[in-house]
Amino acid sequence: MRETSRPGGAGEAGATWAVLVAAGAGERLEIDRPKAFASLGGRPLLAESLERLDRSPWIDAIVVAAPVGWEEPAILLAEELAATKVVSCVTGGATRADSVREALEDVPDDALVLLVHDAARPLVDDAVIERVLAPLAEGFVGVVPVLPIPDTVKRVDNGVVVETVSRDDLVGAQTPQAFLASALRRAFGGDLSGATDCSSLVERVGGRVAAVEGEPTLLKVTTAADLALVEVLLASS
Ligand code: C5P
Repeated sequence: MRETSRPGGAGEAGATWAVLVAAGAGERLEIDRPKAFASLGGRPLLAESLERLDRSPWIDAIVVAAPVGWEEPAILLAEELAATKVVSCVTGGATRADSVREALEDVPDDALVLLVHDAARPLVDDAVIERVLAPLAEGFVGVVPVLPIPDTVKRVDNGVVVETVSRDDLVGAQTPQAFLASALRRAFGGDLSGATDCSSLVERVGGRVAAVEGEPTLLKVTTAADLALVEVLLASS
């Protein structure tokens, strides 16, 4: 199922590898290309997170999961950005978890730490990367950035409210999520069904996952309105 490789990547033993998943269709954007290639400030959405991860001192090497047929444009983009840490670009799978699994195949066995990030969250920065990496040295095998849920949360069945759920201990989970590579590989060795993030798979196999403060600016682009908002944040940063 893959791939376009580029020699000269920066991977080395014991390194921190980033997996950047960009293979979603992004149908809710209603454009003629996958979401990762939607225009953000005049360049593909993918460029923003790719450049930020490449410039981060915390990241040694990057594997990108691109949409089917968009592997070559992704590699060309990495070259245009002089993103020298990009080691390969794999073809993504049917679900986000499948895309991560494809990318993991291109991460060498001696990688110690894996950071998995959604290209759909362009405004990733070093502060949040540093926050998610820190607990891995304190006995956690995974770390997620989270934010409190500002809205009242209700369970609804067929248009009827059946319960109002206490939001006291509920949070929204973002990416980047960080893992000990061994723990993430173990989690991805099993059933991937229903997983909307990597942490849930690690939790399923009993892995201890820490929650650290997320970033309000780490918005996930789903609709055209999200894209416009991220563009404003980008212009004002
Ligand atoms: O679809 P959604 O925005 O929730 O996807 C989150 C991230 O996972 C996006 O960056 C998207 O490109 C990626 N993804 C993927 N492969 C899929 C589905 C989503 O890489 N099959």
